[in-house]
Amino acid sequence: MSDKKATLKIDGMDEAIELPIYSGTLGPDVIDVGGLTGHGMFTYDPGFVSTASCESQITYIDGGKGVLLHRGYPIEQLAEQSDYLETCYLLLYGELPNKEEKEKFVGTVMNHTMVHEQLVQFFSGFRRDSHPMAIMCGVVGALSAFYHDSLDIADDDSRQVAAFRLIAKMPTIAAMSYKFSIGQPFMYPDNSLSYAENFLHMMFGVPCEPSKISPVLAKAMDRIFLLHADHEQNASTSTVRLAGSSGANPFACIAAGIAALWGPSHGGANEAVLKMLDEIGDVSRIDEFVARAKDKDDPFRLMGFGHRVYKNFDPRAKVLKEAADEVLEELGHKDDPLLAIAKRLEEIALHDEYFIDKKLYPNVDFYSGIILKAIGIPTSMFTVIFAVGRTVGWIAHWHEMISGSYRIGRPRQLYTGQPQREFIPLDKR
Ligand code: CMC
Repeated sequence: MSDKKATLKIDGMDEAIELPIYSGTLGPDVIDVGGLTGHGMFTYDPGFVSTASCESQITYIDGGKGVLLHRGYPIEQLAEQSDYLETCYLLLYGELPNKEEKEKFVGTVMNHTMVHEQLVQFFSGFRRDSHPMAIMCGVVGALSAFYHDSLDIADDDSRQVAAFRLIAKMPTIAAMSYKFSIGQPFMYPDNSLSYAENFLHMMFGVPCEPSKISPVLAKAMDRIFLLHADHEQNASTSTVRLAGSSGANPFACIAAGIAALWGPSHGGANEAVLKMLDEIGDVSRIDEFVARAKDKDDPFRLMGFGHRVYKNFDPRAKVLKEAADEVLEELGHKDDPLLAIAKRLEEIALHDEYFIDKKLYPNVDFYSGIILKAIGIPTSMFTVIFAVGRTVGWIAHWHEMISGSYRIGRPRQLYTGQPQREFIPLDKR
């Protein structure tokens, strides 16, 4: 809170309207426009470019400076010194766990990795060539039909169990959606492995052979999950909050988040990056595509470049760029032609006036796509992996909202349709 007030003077209105201003611990002040309805007026902000939709203590972003903090800790430090499940704990509970708390948390999450055996039958209802995100939307939503003991949103314990279940089961369902598409048997989770190792085991293991998991790849996978864990009020998180504000159960809310993430402007961009690199096909064609990206009459955009919030650089991209180099070195993929295209594009974007003027830097999806491809993850699974990592962020925001005071989300509109008119009977039209 602050003593500052904004005064709004509106043409034709005698009295000025006073609006309270609130200050957070970091970031710009916000003007509380809630009182405007009393004056018969709404604010208008398509795309919520300058609207704070809620108060939150989870994640802070300064897009201008390229800062991303989870509960106050810089993402670079977490990526370097923490791991995915520890970061999940931090996002959910607000503090880093001590040794015992961490062990207990990891043990509890890993105890929930299996899915109800009947859920397995869901998969046979899908076409083999279904996009795995389509399967994720359906199967995650269907968890509400299986785990009735974690649907009571008013009960803190029930919400906690829902959080454990979602964080634990997302990799299992994700890997099942891949195994289904290639006709291999589903792999049961192995709880003796780490979260990332277990995911790779369920993705690439087969029941007839012991799994061989490279520690370098497991570390890269863990980093990808960690770097996607939360990103404050983005489209999918806002969707989860909006769905949750009606009192919907957590599994339904996360399914809504998965649907919102799917689009190419959001989580779908990592898949779109690889498709674009494929389409470019050769370094010699890059200029043609860059020219298209700059052409105002062409809707084509360079996928993996630009960000709504980061107008300097994406700090997650910086960490992943280093991880990409490590993974490519380990796997000996340094001469991959797609990577040569990616490297050249990156170079152009960092030096070309159009990209510099518009502050379009490579984003997290640009590098995560490259790493995932090198690990051998099929392109259609890229956004699924984003969803697995982001689940904790969605749940943390949902929990923060439900455990505080909240109202159903109900935006208003600027109506530009027909004014009221009389119905015309069919024979008179
Ligand atoms: N390639 C070419 N031009 C671009 C690009 C791009 N990737 N991104 C933005 N622009 C231009 C755009 O045409 C516009 O130009 P002008 O001012 O002349 O009309 C200007 O830059 C501003 O673009 P905008 O669409 O108003 O910006 P936005 O904040 O609404 O959109 C974005 C942000 C991420 C949707 C957009 O940059 C984009 O479509 N990027 C490609 C998709 C992508 O990589 N998305 C992943 C985002 S990071 C992961 C996540 O958080 O989900």
